[in-house]
Amino acid sequence: MPNTALITGASAGIGREFARYHAEKGGDLIITARRAEALEALKAEIEAAHGVSVTVVPLDLGADGGADQLYEAVKGQQIDILINNAGFGGHGKFIERDLAEDLAMIQLNVDALVALCHHIGKDMAARGSGKILNVSSTASYMAGPLQATYFATKAFVSSFSQALAEELSDNGVTVTALEPGYVETEFAEVANLGGTGLIKGGGATARSAAKYGYDAMRRGELRAINDGQLRFMLNWVFPWLPNKMKLKQVRKMQEKA
Ligand SMILES: NC(=O)c1ccc[n+]([C@@H]2O[C@H](COP(=O)([O-])OP(=O)(O)OC[C@H]3O[C@@H](n4cnc5c(N)ncnc54)[C@H](OP(=O)(O)O)[C@@H]3O)[C@@H](O)[C@H]2O)c1
Repeated sequence: MPNTALITGASAGIGREFARYHAEKGGDLIITARRAEALEALKAEIEAAHGVSVTVVPLDLGADGGADQLYEAVKGQQIDILINNAGFGGHGKFIERDLAEDLAMIQLNVDALVALCHHIGKDMAARGSGKILNVSSTASYMAGPLQATYFATKAFVSSFSQALAEELSDNGVTVTALEPGYVETEFAEVANLGGTGLIKGGGATARSAAKYGYDAMRRGELRAINDGQLRFMLNWVFPWLPNKMKLKQVRKMQEKA
C-alpha cells in the first residue's frame, strides 16, 4: 500500500520526530526545510534504520513562491500524508518588533500551509484518499499579547483546518490540527522566549508531541492537544473566563523575569 508522507520543517524538533515515527511504521518520506545538511543526515539515519526511501527537498518555504516550488518538486509522486509542520514564533510587543519578521511569519505559518493544502488537498480529493496534519498550537485558543502575530497565525491554522476537514470529508480526505503546549525544541530560542513563564516549567518532548499528533491524524481526529491537563483547561475552563482576564494571564505568562 502506498504510504508516502511529505513533512515540512523536518530538519529539527517535532518535524524530525514525525519523520522518524512515520519511517518506523514503514512509510516513505519526502522531507523539506532550509538546512540541507540536517535533512541529509536524517535521510541517512532513517534509510539505514528502516529501509524506506527518503527524498530530500531543501528550500525556503517562507520565500515568495516557496510552496509552489515545493509542489513542483514533488508533483510526480503520490503523497498520502501531508504534514504542514514548519513554523516559527517571535516574542515582543508588536509595534516594537521588526514588521518584516512578522510578515515572514505569516508567510510561512499561514500562506505556505494554505498553498500546500490547496495543491496537495486537490490531488488527494481527486484520488479519494489522503491525510493532512497541520501543526497549530494551544495558542490557537487565545489571543497572545507579546506574541500577537504568532498566536493569530495559529488561530488561523486551527480554524482553517477544521473547515477544510468538513469540506474534504466528502472526498475521503481527513484533516487534523495538532495543538501542542510547550515542546522542548529549537522553537523557544528562535522565538526568543528565554526568561518567560511559558517555558519555565519545561515542556513535552518532540517525540511525544509528534507521536500524539501522528496517531490522532491516523484516526482522523479534528483537533489534538497532546497534554491532558491543557486539553481540559482549554476546552472546559478557559472558554468561561472573561476575555480581559485571559489577556492579562497570557501576557503574564509571556513576560520575561
Ligand atoms: N515547540 C513548541 O513549544 C511548539 C508548541 C506548539 C506548536 N509548535 C509548532 O510546531 C511546529 C514545529 O516547531 P518546532 O517546535 O519543532 O520548532 P523548531 O525546532 O524550531 O523546528 C522548526 C522547523 O521549521 C523549519 N523552518 C523554519 N523556517 C523555515 C522556512 N522559512 N522554510 C522551511 N522550513 C522552515 C526549520 O528548519 P530550517 O531552519 O532548516 O529551515 C525546522 O525544521 C511549528 O509550526 C510550531 O509553531 C511548537
